[in-house]
Amino acid sequence: MSLLKGTRVTWLGHATVLVVTAKGTTILIDPFIEHNPKYPKGFSLPDKIDYVLLTHGHVDHTADTVPVAATHGATVVAIYELALYMQGKGVASTIGMNIGGTVKLDDVAVTMTVAHHSSSLQVADGFVYLGEPAGYVLTIDEGPVLYHAGDTAVFGDMALIRELYAPEVAMLPIGGGYTMGPKEAAVAVRLLDVQLVLPIHWGTMPQLAGRPEELAKLLDAPEKVALLSPGDSL
Ligand code: NI
Ligand code: MN
Repeated sequence: MSLLKGTRVTWLGHATVLVVTAKGTTILIDPFIEHNPKYPKGFSLPDKIDYVLLTHGHVDHTADTVPVAATHGATVVAIYELALYMQGKGVASTIGMNIGGTVKLDDVAVTMTVAHHSSSLQVADGFVYLGEPAGYVLTIDEGPVLYHAGDTAVFGDMALIRELYAPEVAMLPIGGGYTMGPKEAAVAVRLLDVQLVLPIHWGTMPQLAGRPEELAKLLDAPEKVALLSPGDSL
């Protein structure tokens, strides 16, 4: 699709997304693989993954971070506290950042954005809190601007994300329960003024009941909603 200018965006179920730029930079967002009931069976990740981006600490976003980093040689990018945590779990290469900041990773400028959610991991004797939850804007040289919202409610400052970065494609959670649902995501689409929406974080478990078709019905331009199955690419 020409909107993506040679970048490939592959949905791997839940919030897991693989981005491969036209220049070949490989980014995996929120690796949830082994216990992800919607991970496309038989899908093989590229041998080399340059970066793993984590939106927050919840296990359905971070479960496979350590093995993916080890097997595919990836640098893990996350908010400071979560990056340190992953370092402590044996990830060899990490980049810590924080909300509002941008790091340039090869041909991709990665900006960390606000998300309204929580961020923790269950450990043996309770929970460890891992900084703030986040989203990411990926501004790709000679490519598209992508926004992965992470787990979040809709929020008015999505208008600032539009003003600052003008994403063309948004990956938005729509399942409800733990995040916004289709009603709220429709407002997010208006605030962001994106041309294409990839609904994520739906259908993985019964509680994530929001559906892409519901979001499409609420938009003036229903064709903006990409109706992908896990394993499909934009
Ligand atoms: Ni979460
Ligand atoms: Mn989640």
